[in-house]
Amino acid sequence: MQLHAFNYSALNSGQKVAVKYFMAAMVLFAAQIAFGIIAGLQFIFPDLFFGVLDFSVVRMVHINAMIVWMLFGFLGSVYWLIEDESGAELVGAKLANFTFWIFLLAVTIVVLVYLFVQIGPGKIESIWFINEGREYIEAPRWADIGIVACMLVFFYNTAATFLKGKWSGISGVLVLDLIALAGLYMAGMFYVTNISVDQHWWWWVIHLWVEATWEVLVGCVMAWGLIKTLGARRKIVTTWLYIEVALMFGSGILGLGHHYFWIGTPEYWLTIGGFFSALEPIPLVAMVVHSVYDAGSHGFKSTNHPALAWLIAHAFGNFLGGGVWGFMHTLPQINLYTHGTQWTASHGHLAFFGAYATIIIAVIYIAIQRARGDVWMSSDIAGGWRWKWALGLLNAGVMGMTMALLVSGYEQAFTERALGGSTWTAYFAAQNAAWFVQGMNWRAIFGFVTAAGLVLLLWDMMVIGRGDSRDIQELNTGHADDNSDTGAILAT
Ligand code: HEM
Ligand code: HEM
Ligand SMILES: [Fe+2]
Repeated sequence: MQLHAFNYSALNSGQKVAVKYFMAAMVLFAAQIAFGIIAGLQFIFPDLFFGVLDFSVVRMVHINAMIVWMLFGFLGSVYWLIEDESGAELVGAKLANFTFWIFLLAVTIVVLVYLFVQIGPGKIESIWFINEGREYIEAPRWADIGIVACMLVFFYNTAATFLKGKWSGISGVLVLDLIALAGLYMAGMFYVTNISVDQHWWWWVIHLWVEATWEVLVGCVMAWGLIKTLGARRKIVTTWLYIEVALMFGSGILGLGHHYFWIGTPEYWLTIGGFFSALEPIPLVAMVVHSVYDAGSHGFKSTNHPALAWLIAHAFGNFLGGGVWGFMHTLPQINLYTHGTQWTASHGHLAFFGAYATIIIAVIYIAIQRARGDVWMSSDIAGGWRWKWALGLLNAGVMGMTMALLVSGYEQAFTERALGGSTWTAYFAAQNAAWFVQGMNWRAIFGFVTAAGLVLLLWDMMVIGRGDSRDIQELNTGHADDNSDTGAILAT
């Protein structure tokens, strides 16, 4: 009996690079969760690590680790699919490896500085060497420049490989999107003394990443993923992709205004931001309809059950976390009361997990299947309980945290804002109110559920398919000509 061992040498050069990116992503995901647990506990035990690792530092590491692991995951995903999609060998594989190590080294140094130096005097040197103080992208300027250099290499590799091979609808959208994604990062690199102006540009990175360019990137990955796992028709997924991109940019770009309500920008943003951001859920609904339609039309028969399950978790998570939870507080009339409360954190958790963590996990499962020599990953995989429990615990954990935070956020909106009129006293009344405190306790409990899910997930990723002798399930798509450019893998 031939078992499916991990076979690194059988991967193409893009995939070999991708494996490294995925491993780094998962290590940082674990770090994100560890720091999340500490931050959550600090709400309950305010003395925890006081003076050693203050909440502000723990929170910074928690959310920066998230952004970075997701970037590693995205780069890995693109390197994974690039040779398959372009039909050409990755241009500059050595360069891709080199920048991987540079990127990883930079992240390690930045984290060590965050943990051991933490803060510096209010001088320009602190911005260069300690941190820039812009939430989510606090990395000091030297690291910013390093990141931009790595991204330029990544962009060159991607564009040049498609130029050498062939273009498709998916790759065309992907390459154009990467220009926007990398370009926007630069809006978060400049220091200005006016905090309103600073925040104005900072949102260009954060909002235009998660509600425009990242969404389009995962749209491309999803399109490719549906072809891979289900044998979906390329024509159909590409048509949907174009529609989604148009709707996403149409609503998301001016939707930026929902962050300009109260930061000192002109009043017309109330109308523009409220109107356009209220339209943002539409493409997210389209994505759910699309993926469920595709999965349904193939009778949920897939070559890779864990990957398909996570792709569907992505479609729903994106719609619920971004669309529904975002819509709840996006009108200025409501946001006046909810702004900056745990309501925001509730949305932030469900959206980042639902939209981005899920799809990266899906691609990693696709990668594992190939790395184990195209092993069987359809129904009754040996030890299949592991991926199902990991899926269940992670989603239940994050959903539980989301609901707990929502309850705390409601309490703040009522007690602090509506009843107390946003005074300092009202702020403390809300922080000590029973429902707020209980919400914080439940968040910690569900935090541990999430962490348990992650432990299982990492364990599963190391062993799934290892003891199986069956080969990948063949997909009888019945429209092979349609997918001629992806026919190769389906035929194996
Ligand atoms: C997957 C996509 C999305 C992600 C990952 C995401 C994530 C986040 C995060 C982390 C914040 C908090 C930012 C901070 O630290 O201040 C935030 C704020 C916000 N998001 Fe989203 N979001 C997404 C989509 C949406 C959508 C589609 C809408 C509207 C329909 C929306 C509406 C808002 C609003 C109004 C705020 C400001 C909350 C406040 O005033 O405190 N988001 N989002
Ligand atoms: C073990 C599980 C986790 C715990 C206990 C936890 C805890 C926390 C805490 C205490 C904060 C600070 C909130 C505040 O400033 O009031 C935070 C912020 C945040 N966390 Fe987590 N977290 C966990 C997992 C995650 C996951 C899985 C994601 C997404 C993939 C995530 C994304 C975020 C984001 C985006 C913010 C910033 C939210 C905002 O500014 O509104 N966390 N988390
Ligand atoms: Fe936004």
